[in-house]
Amino acid sequence: MIPATLETERLTLRPYARTDRDDAVRLHSDPVVSRYMGDGTPGDGEALFHAIFGIYNADEPRFFEIWAVEADGRFVGHAELKQTEHTTEGELELVYCLVPEAWGKGYGTALVGALTGRAESVGCRTIATVHPDNAASLHILHRWSFAEVERFADGTVLLRR
Ligand SMILES: CC(C)(COP(=O)(O)OP(=O)(O)OC[C@H]1O[C@@H](n2cnc3c(N)ncnc32)[C@H](O)[C@@H]1OP(=O)(O)O)[C@@H](O)C(=O)NCCC(=O)NCCS
Repeated sequence: MIPATLETERLTLRPYARTDRDDAVRLHSDPVVSRYMGDGTPGDGEALFHAIFGIYNADEPRFFEIWAVEADGRFVGHAELKQTEHTTEGELELVYCLVPEAWGKGYGTALVGALTGRAESVGCRTIATVHPDNAASLHILHRWSFAEVERFADGTVLLRR
């Protein structure tokens, strides 16, 4: 399903458009961005970009919202809110990443605030799974009152708000 646009003071979370291809492929292929995501290696940015439209057009039985993130009219990142193998009833997992040029400006903090707000608006709590060395992401999540609830065998930290 195509998600609604979310506006915060500094960021706009809006549905991806085909014209985001170059920005999205660059983001999802960047090893610096991928370092603490998934298995730590960049995915196939092109395939990931096309998969987004597959999810928009599919009759997804699970909650799965995906946005392109803009600041000052420019593409700066990617965000997801979804049911995963880590969520239980009434929970959604957040996923987010920003282009490196946009780091350190408070956008990550604003993005997590937007995602938790969206989850609350549909009556859900939020969880996150984070690499234990991803200090910036853990810092932001603690700022938004997420607390560690579990560590998986590979060290991944599960946090809940
Ligand atoms: C994680 C990410 C979204 C943070 O975005 P950001 O816009 O830089 O975040 P903010 O500017 O809002 O805040 C970052 C905070 O982490 C702190 N921080 C950054 N690097 C840090 C480090 N190595 N150790 C401790 N704190 C760190 C910053 O000082 C800042 O805290 P402050 O506001 O108290 O000064 C961004 O780095 C990113 O996209 N990383 C790659 C993808 C990723 O890891 N996503 C999260 C997967 S769980």
